[in-house]
Amino acid sequence: MVFNLEKIIRPKIYNLEAYRCARDDFKEGILLDANENAYGPTQIELQGTNLHRYPDPHQIEFKKAMASYRNKTSVFRSYDLVPLTDENFCLGVGSDESIDAIIRASCVPSKEKILVLPPTYSMYSVCANINDVDVVTCPLITEDNSFQIDATEILNILANDPLIKLVFITSPGNPTGAKIEIDRIEYLLKNWDQGLVIVDEAYIDFSGGSTAPLVTKYPNLVTLQTLSKSFGLAGIRLGMTIATKKLSKILNAMKAPYNISTVTSDMALKAVQNHNLEKMEQNAQILNKEKLRLLNALTSLKYVDNGYIGGLDANFILLRINNGDNDLAKKLYTELAIKSGVVIRFRGNELGCAGGLRVTIGTKEENDILIKEFGRKLEELVG
Ligand SMILES: Cc1ncc(COP(=O)(O)O)c(C=O)c1O
Repeated sequence: MVFNLEKIIRPKIYNLEAYRCARDDFKEGILLDANENAYGPTQIELQGTNLHRYPDPHQIEFKKAMASYRNKTSVFRSYDLVPLTDENFCLGVGSDESIDAIIRASCVPSKEKILVLPPTYSMYSVCANINDVDVVTCPLITEDNSFQIDATEILNILANDPLIKLVFITSPGNPTGAKIEIDRIEYLLKNWDQGLVIVDEAYIDFSGGSTAPLVTKYPNLVTLQTLSKSFGLAGIRLGMTIATKKLSKILNAMKAPYNISTVTSDMALKAVQNHNLEKMEQNAQILNKEKLRLLNALTSLKYVDNGYIGGLDANFILLRINNGDNDLAKKLYTELAIKSGVVIRFRGNELGCAGGLRVTIGTKEENDILIKEFGRKLEELVG
């Protein structure tokens, strides 16, 4: 394996000089360097805050705390890894921005491509299309309901198409909820050096085992994470790209200097304090218990297949209605939304997910209502 980042990142981006502001050098004093409004925010409620100032472009404290948490909770103890530091991180406006950034950094528009593994999160293709980057697909293994990646087939495709620069793996999967086995990911990492393997771990804290600490071992690995799911902070929009220091430096040079707002920074920093990390883990456990309760209740209903599609590694379950009956699943989805005021997601058109309804785990009270309404509406529809 001869991994050469310079061959993977577009030349103008590889050589990009990061935007610098006076405050990179001087943070204190009478600040008349950035054309801010020294009179402060106009709203009376915001006076006395620092919201008239541009935010910190780097969020070093947050990155340090997150790196330390991922090191401490790593499952790869036997690997003897170099620990993550703040320099392995680049932050985005949600991981949606991080997805877009990595595509823009590496794929030449109307020439190079990404590989996605359906059924999967649709934003990889959306961002690729926006950037005029073609999308190649290699299905997950659907026949045995494992929804694992077929690493051998992926390597075949990559060997035959040198224009593919990125492979997007969602682990745990969306909409499948199945975590991808680490051996399969490592097999890819060890056998392909012509691009980057992106592991999107938006839901990782519901099952553990983040690949993030492995970025110091594999230069071709990039892990994406977010505060939107396990941390319950979808509203602040904070995503993370975790990669080698070299790649992180490039991504940080490429991002808009003030992409993370002061409000977001402050809240994110609070979220990674020890007591709040503990709370996040406790909430994930509570949610996982509710997930099993919901699964048992819903799969005991007539016309809901036993078991589930994929896995139980995220904060949702993917149920199959009546052996893959898309008509019934869609009707049930619509009835639940319109008549019961309970909104779930129809996923029956995704590869290997016929009859699929994806249900996010709610609070206990919300789940009770869902269970009742799901049964009632199903009975009304099929008698
Ligand atoms: C797999 C996956 N990745 C990324 C995201 C986007 O997360 P964010 O809120 O950080 O943009 C989602 C959101 O649903 C997701 O399911």
